[in-house]
Amino acid sequence: MSLKSTPQTLPTDPAVRENLFNPEIRAAIDRHIAKYPPEWKQSAVMPALTLVQEWNGGWLTIELMNEVAAYLEMPPIAVYEVASFYGMYDLKPTGRHKVCVCNSISCLLNGSEALIEHVKKRYQVAPGETTADGKFTFKEVECLGACRHAPVVLIDKTYGENLTPEALDRWIEELD
Ligand code: FES
Repeated sequence: MSLKSTPQTLPTDPAVRENLFNPEIRAAIDRHIAKYPPEWKQSAVMPALTLVQEWNGGWLTIELMNEVAAYLEMPPIAVYEVASFYGMYDLKPTGRHKVCVCNSISCLLNGSEALIEHVKKRYQVAPGETTADGKFTFKEVECLGACRHAPVVLIDKTYGENLTPEALDRWIEELD
């Protein structure tokens, strides 16, 4: 089952609100909720946001975060806090891909600064922005948990390790 889709036009009519949160997504979230005691269903907030974000083409709207809050019976503000704190969530539309360069200490000491500068210059995109052709959103992110292979880049769900600017270019070239 793929939850990936093109960005949705979000309905405002309550009659079609179920489209915001379809049965497939609910079932997937329920599987995460089942991992926790019933009174702690909000513990599933991060995987829930991840599923909903993927379904929405890579980013979260206020409406979707509110839906997650309602589904997990938690205050919307608590969902906004999670979504705005963690770098893997995006609160505005993104490019077709996400190129995330780690800027934490191991990667900084092993060349991520050069990667970041290279991406800025070559693709004319600042961190947090999307390239003019919509190919990718460029993100500087905190430790990706693969420090021994620094510098590390995550593109969508694939890790690239010990990357040079040239290797990163070749990888980006391969993206659709
Ligand atoms: S510091 Fe970059 S992966 Fe940990």
